[in-house]
Formats: sequence, C-alpha cells, structure tokens
Amino acid sequence: MSGRFITIEGGEGAGKSTAQAYIAKKLEQSGHSVVCTREPGGTPLAEAIRHTLLNLEGEAPIEMAELLLVFAARAQHLAKVIEPALEKGQWVICDRFTDATFAYQGAARGLPLEAISKLERLVQGERRPHAVVLMDLSPEIGMARARARGALDRFEQEDIAFYDRVRAGYLSRAKALPAQYSIVDASQRLDAVRQDLSQLIDDWLSHD
Ligand code: TMP
Repeated sequence: MSGRFITIEGGEGAGKSTAQAYIAKKLEQSGHSVVCTREPGGTPLAEAIRHTLLNLEGEAPIEMAELLLVFAARAQHLAKVIEPALEKGQWVICDRFTDATFAYQGAARGLPLEAISKLERLVQGERRPHAVVLMDLSPEIGMARARARGALDRFEQEDIAFYDRVRAGYLSRAKALPAQYSIVDASQRLDAVRQDLSQLIDDWLSHD
C-alpha cells in the first residue's frame, strides 16, 4: 500500500483538529497506518519555532522573518516526519501545510506569492499534498469559536479583515487547484461535516 499526504486547512475555529481525528480514525479502521501531525510543528525543533511564531511575549517577527521561520519548521518536519512516513507507506494527515503560508503570509500579510512559490520549490522539491481539505467558515463564526476556546495566540489577535483575506486566499487557491482541493462547509452540524468527510475518504480509498 502506498502512503498518501493529506492536509487540512482553514481559518481559526473551523474544526480542523476534529476533522483530522475523524479522518485518521476512519483510515485506521480501513487498515491503513496513519501519522497525525501539524504545522508549524511536528518535531521538537519545529515545535520550538511554532512557539516563537505564536507567542505574544518578546519581539514579534517581521513578515519576512515569519515566512522564513514557517519554512524552516517545514524543512525539518518534512525531513524528520513526513517523508519517512510516506516512504513507509503510511498516510500522513497534517493540520496545515504550505497552503496556509499562501493564505496567511501571502494573501493576508501581503508577501509576494512568487516568493512563497520559490521557497516551496526550494524546501519541498516536488512534494505537494495529494489532497487538501479546506474547512471553510466565515471568520465571524470562526473567531467566536476560537475566543470561546480561551487565550488567543498572536495570529488569533488579528482583526476580522485579516481573516477575510485568509479565507479569500484559501478560496482562490481552491479555485486554481480544483483537483487537489475539497471544500467542506464547516458551518454545518458536526454529523453533516462528518458525512462530507466520509465521502472524501471513500473517494481517496477508491483510488488507493
Ligand atoms: P493552528 O493553531 O490553527 O494550528 O495554526 C497556527 C497558526 O499558524 C495559525 O494562526 C496559522 C499560522 N500559520 C501561518 O501563518 N503560516 C503557515 O504556513 C502555517 C502552517 C501556519
């Protein structure tokens, strides 16, 4: 059996973690070995970079430093976790990947998309997700959910306009890459979201 690289994307409070756990359980039930991981993070060094990026104390990185830190964490994560798992035939389910960089550092912060594409090629070579699941939700609902969860990190402190740009960034990537992207309406009830995810999983497995 060959491994597959699935990423889950979306704004804050869109239910990515719940979707990741559900997808992993379903794949395991059908006999696949699954690795659940996240970005930024997934290795001790990449988690330290995550802490630097998200925490509110100390010096905030400028936009270009933020972009390079995200890709530094990604290089480590790919080499230590993602590529070895895929080589072993495991399915890697990753909470965020480079599409988040296009949405957050590109569409929302305004860094040039060509610079992100160059870093993508440099760090990842040909590696791209086999499928991207976009949990799409209005920022108003997403931010209310994130606030209800507790203390907000550096990104979650951004205003609604920032999250409107994040959402538009994701939707424009989904439009440009329709074969890779599946959009799930994350405003639905949990059972309806699960039903949509089940359909996606069946589709992936039928091409296994
Ligand atoms: P999470 O808490 O939803 O896992 O995401 C952590 C934050 O990191 C989230 O606000 C988005 C941000 N992020 C970027 O800005 N660029 C990236 O490339 C990634 C992976 C995450």
